[in-house]
Amino acid sequence: MHAVAGFLESPAMNAPTESVFARGAQALPDDFVQTLRGRFGERFSTATAVREQHGRDESSYPTTPPQAVVYALTEDEVAAAVALAAQHRVPVIAYGTGSSLEGHVLAIHGGLTIDVSRMDRIVAINAEDLTVTVQAGVTREQLNREVKDSGLFFPIDPGANASLGGMCATRASGTNAVRYGTMRENVLGLKVVTASGEIIRTGTRAKKSSAGYDLTRLFVGSEGTLGVIVEVTLKLYPLPEAVSAATCSFPSIAAAVDTTIAIIQMGVPIARCELLDANAIRGVNKHSNLSLREAPMLLMEFHGSPAGVQEQAEAVQAIASEHGGTAFEWASTPEDRSRLWKARHQAYFAALQMRPGCRMLTSDTCVPISRLAESINASVDEAEAAGLPYWVVGHVGDGNFHLAYLLDPNDPGEMVRAEALSQRMVERAIRLGGTCTGEHGIGLHKMDYLVQEAGEGAVAMMRSIKLALDPLNILNPGKVVRV
Ligand code: LAC
Ligand code: ZN
Repeated sequence: MHAVAGFLESPAMNAPTESVFARGAQALPDDFVQTLRGRFGERFSTATAVREQHGRDESSYPTTPPQAVVYALTEDEVAAAVALAAQHRVPVIAYGTGSSLEGHVLAIHGGLTIDVSRMDRIVAINAEDLTVTVQAGVTREQLNREVKDSGLFFPIDPGANASLGGMCATRASGTNAVRYGTMRENVLGLKVVTASGEIIRTGTRAKKSSAGYDLTRLFVGSEGTLGVIVEVTLKLYPLPEAVSAATCSFPSIAAAVDTTIAIIQMGVPIARCELLDANAIRGVNKHSNLSLREAPMLLMEFHGSPAGVQEQAEAVQAIASEHGGTAFEWASTPEDRSRLWKARHQAYFAALQMRPGCRMLTSDTCVPISRLAESINASVDEAEAAGLPYWVVGHVGDGNFHLAYLLDPNDPGEMVRAEALSQRMVERAIRLGGTCTGEHGIGLHKMDYLVQEAGEGAVAMMRSIKLALDPLNILNPGKVVRV
């Protein structure tokens, strides 16, 4: 039997050091393993390859596998597995596609990973209400394929083909959030397995509700620490009549950022407004065989009626040229657009290949739009002065950008310097009224930043909520808040 106390203490962690992973988890209790094996058969695994696959995400943290993995097919199976884990005080980690970026799914205290990727059924499309209900393992690309014939789409696009359960868990956003909002604005309701293995519902399919505490918003962004999301009800949108994408190069990052600020302040309903610096473009060109100009660039998309799209594009072109933006290059065919966006989505992997074997430390600050120039320009100046390889991409229309350092794993000094620079970026964002993470979440890496941002009092309240909902601390222990 596990000692509860062993799980109640979370590691102090900011930089991705190895030490925390040396804490060897205790072996799983025999009858726990036997019961799961009996119920799930071949869908229960303790094979090394399966455990290792579930012990990593897209972050640079070392693989930290759970002791066992179960592939659930139904919410009742998830509930049964969690109830059993509660009985035996075994940590439980929910897993979708493993595309998180801050070590969210790493089994730092061992335990059981519940893989929900096979829960991939569309439960109901209500086209006339613009809503859809899906099992947690449905991915965003799958969802968009399935609702396309109804003339609808789900806009939230973090780049990765993430599961919708995982996107709820991290409160994901990405390239379309400037127009359509994030998961926070687009989740109407959830079904969640609680820490004791009950199934509860939150929200309704109505557009709004004043009924009680907003549990949907509590679970969206809870990173698997308050419950296991098994079903999600989402808003959908009519496919826009016209879509146009354009690139525009600028003499400096500052000019591209000033253009973005003006676009947002004028209220242009731009659908996507992405910044790539010259370093990111170099990576993207090589990785995706493109020949984009290696200068700071805005990659934009406009949605609306044909006349509306033209009007938006003209307004943006006028603003861009005032800031030294060169002529727009249009990608009007669906093929050209998807090539461009696919390249943008692969920017992270493209960058990893620019320094083979490197570890990447990625920032994710987000500030109010009027403070974006200060937030980015100072961060880029610091990166230049530091002399470490870096690149920048940003969902700049939201005030959100990622400055990522490419670090030599054999030179711990580089990681220490990059972490200090990351700390300064976060401090600056908080000072400017912003946040340490716009979309990636807290995970393992940002627990100290959360305290800086929210303050001890608010984090103490989060801890109280965590312990009220998960008194044994079995749900993704050691993430978001230390308990
Ligand atoms: C992106 C991921 C890293 O924007 O959030 O590419
Ligand atoms: Zn991003």
